[in-house]
Amino acid sequence: MRISVIGCGYLGAVHAASMAELGHEVIGIDVDPGKIEALSAGKAPFFEPGLGDILTSSMKSGRLRFSTDIADAKGAQVHFVAVGTPQKRGENAADLTYVDAAVNGLLPHLNEGDLIVGKSTVPVGTAARLAEVVAASGTGATLAWNPEFLREGFAVKDTISPDRLVYGVPAGAAGERAKDQLDEVYAAAIANETPVVVTDYATAELVKVSANAFLATKISFINAMAEIAEVAGADVTSLADAIGYDARIGRRFLNAGVGFGGGCLPKDIRAFAARAEELGRGESVRFLLEVDAINMRRRDRMVDMVVESLGGQVYQKKVAVLGLAFKPDSDDVRDSPALDVAVRLNGLGARVIATDPEAIPNSIRLHPQLGFATDTHDALHDADIVVLVTEWKDYRALDPVEVGELVRDKVIIDGRNVLDPVAWRAAGWTYRGMGRP
Ligand code: UDX
Repeated sequence: MRISVIGCGYLGAVHAASMAELGHEVIGIDVDPGKIEALSAGKAPFFEPGLGDILTSSMKSGRLRFSTDIADAKGAQVHFVAVGTPQKRGENAADLTYVDAAVNGLLPHLNEGDLIVGKSTVPVGTAARLAEVVAASGTGATLAWNPEFLREGFAVKDTISPDRLVYGVPAGAAGERAKDQLDEVYAAAIANETPVVVTDYATAELVKVSANAFLATKISFINAMAEIAEVAGADVTSLADAIGYDARIGRRFLNAGVGFGGGCLPKDIRAFAARAEELGRGESVRFLLEVDAINMRRRDRMVDMVVESLGGQVYQKKVAVLGLAFKPDSDDVRDSPALDVAVRLNGLGARVIATDPEAIPNSIRLHPQLGFATDTHDALHDADIVVLVTEWKDYRALDPVEVGELVRDKVIIDGRNVLDPVAWRAAGWTYRGMGRP
């Protein structure tokens, strides 16, 4: 199929390249000339495993092009809207400026029978409102909502082999046709028996936000247990293992630590709470504000643990911060607990030397006041305390004996509970996890 993808960020760039990889003819469009220049040269503008490979192969095949001009979407049959919906400045609600601009920008370039497919995460009710805009344009185009569930770090795999597809389509013949068009786009996944849920706009929009709300709640639940474990002298990791054996609960997303961050979960739960208030049902998801509060408290806790471990004297102490990205295998530092902890410690007068395999450039842009080291050993050198905040494979594999020879004081706070306390203590370290005795 001929496909356009409006917005080439973490979502759109991966979607465009993956659709081309599946054999479609794709044009990716973004207003940022820097991004388009990089993508046109076959370079991923951010770190995402596997993206570089499929970009190169699709560009070579001639099936993938990029442009800054939305008029180049003309001729595509399916137009994906994959622009950002960030949190509004000073408010919990989502900012829909980019979604509105993308849909309105597409209208003059549509042909009869074209399908606009929203992928961005939006407050429930947005698709119905945009469908009216599309209908009023007289273009004969249809709108569908097809939320995206990709995880950064696994984005290519999640796009090419999703665990489910959700189509929000209008009722009647237009909806049938939209479903057929989407089935053609996702023919490869459907042939592999990917479940498809065909539903209305509102349900499709809610599926996405409720999935993220559930995941965030699961993480904050275990972090709340970590808070209790801390005062009761229990171990939240064993607790998670034990409750996780119950198939109804499951062990995934029960890793306690410094909490969740990123471009999705934090802003999506806030936007959901704000939208529920607008709909007069604020009380139904008000617990999400508690989920958010628990999550933010973990960062306070982490900073407190560092201060405590340094005997209350943080000023001029060298703190080696391992990790800046909001999760491993990503260079994304949006709302990253790791970067936040580094900034807070720096604000207390510590000499922070932070390191990360991929996220240093993005961190420098936001917080040039921090100290950075690209080499893990340089970050660890002479450290008074080591703080692990993003569980990159390299950090999980650190050898406590070797690291012990680099630092000034063998004190480590494991903000992701990924190190083996027995091995670290045996090597003479003071090891502290989060929610562990
Ligand atoms: C999330 C959703 O998983 C995805 O389906 C949606 O499309 C976008 O938002 P992502 O932001 O890539 O994906 O990250 P995810 O893997 O969900 O992790 C989010 C945050 O939660 C990270 O900061 C991670 O470190 C943290 N986390 C995750 C925990 O603290 N504990 C866990 O057990 C799991």
